Amino acid sequence: MKQVRKRFATVLPFFLMILLQAPALPQSSAEEKFLDSLISGMTLPEKIGQLVQWNGSNPDGEKLLRDGGIGSFLNIRNREEINRLQKIAVEETRLGIPLIIGNDVIHGYQTTFPIPLATAASWNPELLKKACRIAAYEAAENGTRWTFAPMVDIARDPRWGRIAEGFGEDPFLGGRMAEASVEGFQGGNMTSEGGIAACTKHYVAYGAAIAGKDYNTVDISERTLREVYLPPFHAAVNAGAATMMSAFNDLNGVPASCNYFTLTQILRNEWGFEGFVVSDYNSIGELIHHRVAGDKAQAALEAIRAGVDMDMVGDTLAGNIYSPNLETLVRPGRISEEIINEAVRRVLRIKYRLGLFRHPYSIAEYAWNDTLPDAEKQKVALQLARESIVLLKNENSLLPLRRDVKSIAVIGPLADNRDEMLGTWTCEPIIANVVTILEGIRGRVSPGTKVEYAKGCGITGEDTSGFDQAVRAAREADAVVLVVGESKSMSGEAASRASLDLPGVQQQLVERIHATGTPVVVVLINGRPLTIGRIAENIPAVVDAWFLGDQAGNAAADVLFGDYNPSGKLPVTFPRSVGQIPIYYSYKSTGRPFDPHNKFTTKYIDAPVTPLYPFGYGLSYTRFVCSNLKINPPQARLGENIMVSVDVTNSGKIAGLEIVQLYLCDRVASVTRPVKELKGFRKVDLKPGETRRIEFTISPEMLSFYDINMRKITEPGLFDVMVGGNSEEGISAPFELVE
Ligand code: NOJ
Repeated sequence: MKQVRKRFATVLPFFLMILLQAPALPQSSAEEKFLDSLISGMTLPEKIGQLVQWNGSNPDGEKLLRDGGIGSFLNIRNREEINRLQKIAVEETRLGIPLIIGNDVIHGYQTTFPIPLATAASWNPELLKKACRIAAYEAAENGTRWTFAPMVDIARDPRWGRIAEGFGEDPFLGGRMAEASVEGFQGGNMTSEGGIAACTKHYVAYGAAIAGKDYNTVDISERTLREVYLPPFHAAVNAGAATMMSAFNDLNGVPASCNYFTLTQILRNEWGFEGFVVSDYNSIGELIHHRVAGDKAQAALEAIRAGVDMDMVGDTLAGNIYSPNLETLVRPGRISEEIINEAVRRVLRIKYRLGLFRHPYSIAEYAWNDTLPDAEKQKVALQLARESIVLLKNENSLLPLRRDVKSIAVIGPLADNRDEMLGTWTCEPIIANVVTILEGIRGRVSPGTKVEYAKGCGITGEDTSGFDQAVRAAREADAVVLVVGESKSMSGEAASRASLDLPGVQQQLVERIHATGTPVVVVLINGRPLTIGRIAENIPAVVDAWFLGDQAGNAAADVLFGDYNPSGKLPVTFPRSVGQIPIYYSYKSTGRPFDPHNKFTTKYIDAPVTPLYPFGYGLSYTRFVCSNLKINPPQARLGENIMVSVDVTNSGKIAGLEIVQLYLCDRVASVTRPVKELKGFRKVDLKPGETRRIEFTISPEMLSFYDINMRKITEPGLFDVMVGGNSEEGISAPFELVE
């Protein structure tokens, strides 16, 4: 039986009365009845208060809170402080409506998992769900019942630093990871112990910022919006996402934070979203900078009318838009109070669904079952980190390294830096828990192996004075593990880059170490695809380790020494040069498809058209072969499911996991369609020599697209199915759809 500790037992009798009246009703009508009674007793300022989110706590905020003028706080993580503010809300305000506390719990709260882009490389939604569950529980224990995650922005321009926070370039993979995150954070039913509300962001098309420059204008067609950028948001809504965040960017002439078309027409009317929309940090105030609002009152008007329910950073220091401006809009009748009522209802609905009216405090205050023990959490972190690693190159099977090799030099500015392993956005990580790559290697080699460390240089800067020592270490070793890449602050928000080369003098370091002749393995630490053409050409083994969180070093060592056979696949294309960007696998054919023998086709005169590494790519220490592709029926009726089956064989000598990918191509349609689109994937674990037959179902939805009038249709005709280990290699077969 759940018990509430004495200290926080009092919740206003007003709510208890309403709640007690409700139990005989089905959940949804009980909820609506509760909301009706509550809203009918609220004054206009109290209603507006529910739409105001304050950043951090301070005396001004506390005063406003007591007057019922604040419904939410962000950026407070101290449990005592959260409970103290909550106590004011439930015991000292007239109506006692609990606060909802939001924080950016992006890839872990205390236990820190790999960054989202890395987790997408695992192609393992179930595992991501487990990680999000853990993050949610740790957050809820500390009073955070709302995370500003998942970020599901499709990103096809790696100059954009926020590519690190999302799931890459593909709407299908992005959609599966979005669902998993929402389910993991919310725990099915948000009122369940440790469920927190998800906030799918940044709605919408923020990742299409022109030139990859953060906060920049977005100008894309409705087709691209619907086909590429919206699907992961829709998947999140279907998975029950409680809230959405409206983005900073301008979308086709209307900023996303006052865009009626996306916020109301699509989100609410088409998709039936019942939760609430919070703005991004002062994005309502920034309507003034977008120059679609002349002052704060107009900004408030545009945003609330479009469907933004809560003003993030509604405090006096920054935005201060909904409070006090909404009141000045309602009083003279410039907007009806009904609009406010609707927004308030959505906010209160989520507070109700979170169970905050019954259990407003940090869940640590209630005698509920505890979360997993720390060791179990770290096991999930380790498994997710291992599965996120992508083996990019392994010439002459240099990897895995023998653990009894006589000596190893571990070199590079990212080889022994705990903090850097965590990547962008962390909450309360325990730095001492983080395992660096050097520590991981030291913990894995045989007792007789000598491990020599040399930093070589900084991540940035021009200082080459450490090169000589690093070169000496490399010369004296049998193998070098060279850990290079970006610092964690080089990706994430406000971290766009115009060059995607290794920063500082790291490329020179790579060349000096390579010149020693000792075999080199490069371990790349990165929040985005980097232009590593010279490394890919010259260095025999390259491991992409992103930012892997607490277990970075153990996961990398597992892969380097073969305790884990790498299975990750790129969730985003690696360009050869910045000039190729944007580059992605699901491009359109054009009227002049690429032909190396014909000058007047789509290509560059000074660079190849192919990427360095394609979407879906990643090597293993074994080999997988797909064969015997069957499509049933080969001629299907519109509306029928189609079964695809294929044999997958591990033809190598060790066990391994293959991510089998299914791509579809609509050969001829009434509008242009991508050359291929991912529509399914399976992760299969195969022993050496084992063959398994796997099946995919192609649903009618997967064959549909938006016609010229933006209606979803399916057209009869020929389609190609390709099944394989990445977006460029596989076996294919056609099928036909008939009326
Ligand atoms: C601004 C960021 O764009 C958003 O992703 C984040 O959730 C908010 N700040 C709150 O920190």
